[in-house]
Amino acid sequence: MELAQRLQRIPPYPFREIARIKAQMLAEGREIIDFGIGDPDMPTPDFVIEALHQAAQDPTTHQYDESGYGIAEYKQAISDFAAARYGIQIDPDGEIQSCIGAKEALAHIIWAYIDPADVVLIPEPAYPVFGVQTTWCGGAPFPMPLLPENDFLPDLAAIPDSAVHRAKLIFVNYPNNPTGAVASLEFFEELVKFAKKNELLIVQDAAYAEVTFDGYEAPSIMQVPGAKDVAIEMHSFSKTFNMTGWRVGWAWGGSEYIDALSKVKSNVDSGTFMAIQRAGIVALANFDSHVPQMRGEYQQRRDALVKGLNSLGWSLEKPKGTFYIWAPVPPSFDSSAGFAQALLEQCGVLVTPGSAYGSTGEGFIRMSLTLTGEDKLGQIARAIDSIASNMPALW
Ligand SMILES: Cc1ncc(COP(=O)(O)O)c(C=O)c1O
Repeated sequence: MELAQRLQRIPPYPFREIARIKAQMLAEGREIIDFGIGDPDMPTPDFVIEALHQAAQDPTTHQYDESGYGIAEYKQAISDFAAARYGIQIDPDGEIQSCIGAKEALAHIIWAYIDPADVVLIPEPAYPVFGVQTTWCGGAPFPMPLLPENDFLPDLAAIPDSAVHRAKLIFVNYPNNPTGAVASLEFFEELVKFAKKNELLIVQDAAYAEVTFDGYEAPSIMQVPGAKDVAIEMHSFSKTFNMTGWRVGWAWGGSEYIDALSKVKSNVDSGTFMAIQRAGIVALANFDSHVPQMRGEYQQRRDALVKGLNSLGWSLEKPKGTFYIWAPVPPSFDSSAGFAQALLEQCGVLVTPGSAYGSTGEGFIRMSLTLTGEDKLGQIARAIDSIASNMPALW
């Protein structure tokens, strides 16, 4: 059976060669230090698992969540979290939608608004979902390059009027995958002004909102007065509480946009398992006891990796957020895929080529601080030693 055009249009997996080399090296019993996938390697905290266990034994959680938006206690817990964490008022009745992870909400907000030929302003490099879903709706992704000289923020003034006039949505993602960049509240203020002037809906992907370091707390776009008029923000339990497999998060924002998302969801899924929503409430209630330790763990790894790479000739700043290091490709290599392949073959170090995140990502590699196996700092040290001895003249 022939696949639908929309699936055929998705570019083939570009790193087949890297996957093949990895499989071959593993078969030969060689160690691979895998900085590839961004998926927390620490387990979900016990208090969340226990809460799910209890909630799952209550048969009232076994049915459809008929609220459509999420159970009342879940939305209240999120509204309380908004007040405690960001000092903002979010109405649990109308301004919150539960979702099956941020990814689901990011995809479906595009289905809510994009018709063929509509433009969606998309950062580049970026998490691929924004572009793929836009294309599936027949829309046209318009890239906003994230460049080091602009601190990996989009240059709003540089977007051509012709694209802005046809655009309905503008995506941003801070703290940012893959660059590790963060956005200030002032940037969000400028973005809200831009969206109001140009009648755009801002979709801010806050999946990494809590993975931050050195005491830095990432702002929510909802802290900007009037943001609800032009913005929706997606949050997730995945990275904050090591819950990527649980598939739970929320969107908050103007009720018009929450309603639109809800309308799509009610025709696609039937909400998040109510027992998982209850576990989410317990996760948020234990935020203060869990989050500092999660941040501390990644911060140690970040410090070790950045220090190690800098000792080899890079001059990287320590990112303030996410568990990614976005490092330039040394000039002796002409592509990120070529450098990634050489790192794997010669050093047993697996990284993601920046070109996986769009053409602006060429010239960079992404290294994730999430590592499978024991002794993470030991793995980082072995990776640095291996690069030092196998690629002595990198820079
Ligand atoms: C930028 C970004 N947004 C969203 C997600 C998806 O998060 P969730 O697990 O909540 O769907 C990811 C996952 O890697 C991500 O990197």
